[in-house]
Amino acid sequence: MDFLPEPYKTKTVERIHLLPREKRQRKLIEAHYNLFKIPAADVFIDLLTDSGTSAMSDNQWAGLQMGDESYAGCRNYYFFEDTIRNITGFKNIIPAHQGRVAENLLFTSALKKGDYVISNTHFDTTRANIEHQKAHAVDLLVEEGKDPQSEYDFKGNIDLDKVEDFIKKVGAKKIPMGMLTVTNNAGGGQPVSLENIKAYSELLHKHGISLYLDACRYAENCYFIKQREAAYRDWTIKDIAREMFKYTDGCTMSAKKDGLANIGGFLATNDDKLAAKITNMLILIEGFPTYGGMAGRDLEAVARGLIEALDEEYLHYRVQQVKCLGELLEEAEIPIVRPPGGHAIYVDINSFLPDFPREKYPGWAVTVAMYREGCVRTTEIGTIMQGLQPDGTEIIPRLELVRLAIPRRVYSMAHLQYVASIFKKIKENKKLIKPLRIKWQAPVMRHFTVELEEIP
Ligand code: F0G
Repeated sequence: MDFLPEPYKTKTVERIHLLPREKRQRKLIEAHYNLFKIPAADVFIDLLTDSGTSAMSDNQWAGLQMGDESYAGCRNYYFFEDTIRNITGFKNIIPAHQGRVAENLLFTSALKKGDYVISNTHFDTTRANIEHQKAHAVDLLVEEGKDPQSEYDFKGNIDLDKVEDFIKKVGAKKIPMGMLTVTNNAGGGQPVSLENIKAYSELLHKHGISLYLDACRYAENCYFIKQREAAYRDWTIKDIAREMFKYTDGCTMSAKKDGLANIGGFLATNDDKLAAKITNMLILIEGFPTYGGMAGRDLEAVARGLIEALDEEYLHYRVQQVKCLGELLEEAEIPIVRPPGGHAIYVDINSFLPDFPREKYPGWAVTVAMYREGCVRTTEIGTIMQGLQPDGTEIIPRLELVRLAIPRRVYSMAHLQYVASIFKKIKENKKLIKPLRIKWQAPVMRHFTVELEEIP
């Protein structure tokens, strides 16, 4: 297979260790078969998340030295604000130390009990923050986005007919805002088209409903727009980004993704009244408005990272690398969600293990096997993560996926070839994937702490 060389070279290295198999088995027992409980030092290739795991550039590291740690008005904030305003065009830029805090600030300030927020697919933290306000998070994704084999270019699009019907059903007054997750993480990292954003924006605004983007991976989304939406073929990524934000009223962002930073985030809005309310809340929970829970040096690293993430050569490499991992898996006949998304490959476990009993957690069992056989950490997005209901019962979700999220600028293609070879190994000997049962679980977000055992 052909793949592009990285558009960067290594300046600092971090040693990683491939533990022997017996040690990995011991670690699994100690962790009660929960990879969240395995120390990162015991993982060789860590594909648990692409969030906060990017390698910073020399330019970002140099920026850390430029941190102005004044309580009020540090110079890094003004650069951060200018950079975000320049990319997004939004009026009010409010820093927050990560995405979910920006969400919390937005929803505590804008929602009332019983309200609805519609989106293509709400990410877990977005949904949880909406529900925390006793409001409802509603997903209205296009049907193509739910079919792992559909090759549709924009599987992250929202279904505009469903949006219209929903507004008719509950009334616009009950919907203070619509959102869109770009790219759609929970739906496979799939992009949203500008055509869809524009039409959704017109529809919401016609009803007096505002539109906010969950913009964590907006640069990757813009790259897909350039590749797949003919009208934007000759645009720069930055101009596409500006165009995308133009149709919206604000955004929340975790800079741990397309900010190429290890921590950071922000909330942006054109609504001055809402911004004032949010700023009060910010002071209560995050800090003064010119640092919002971040050190001055981190504001600098985020601002520099946001600029770097708009580099088309970087994005081209990034998306290609993810795609190459997908191709390596497909060459080994491992079924993946098609087409590959921007930040991760999702293996379709229902097709991979059609005979494995769903109530014995096949997705989770694959993540355990990947660690035992290769010291590789991946994550289940399936029954353990999504199946537990508030009343304690378990509903098996339609899709059972294992996500291989690729940290930005961290792993080489050789690392990813290694990952694919381990997947191939467990595919060729499925006995390596063992059924599981739960020994202990928490009532919510059980995947982080659940304890399991293998069924002999
Ligand atoms: N929105 C999306 C689409 C996300 O993917 C995440 C985080 C957040 C919001 C929350 O941001 O972590 O900075 O508070 N996603 C990570 C992941 C955790 O692994 O996909 P945060």
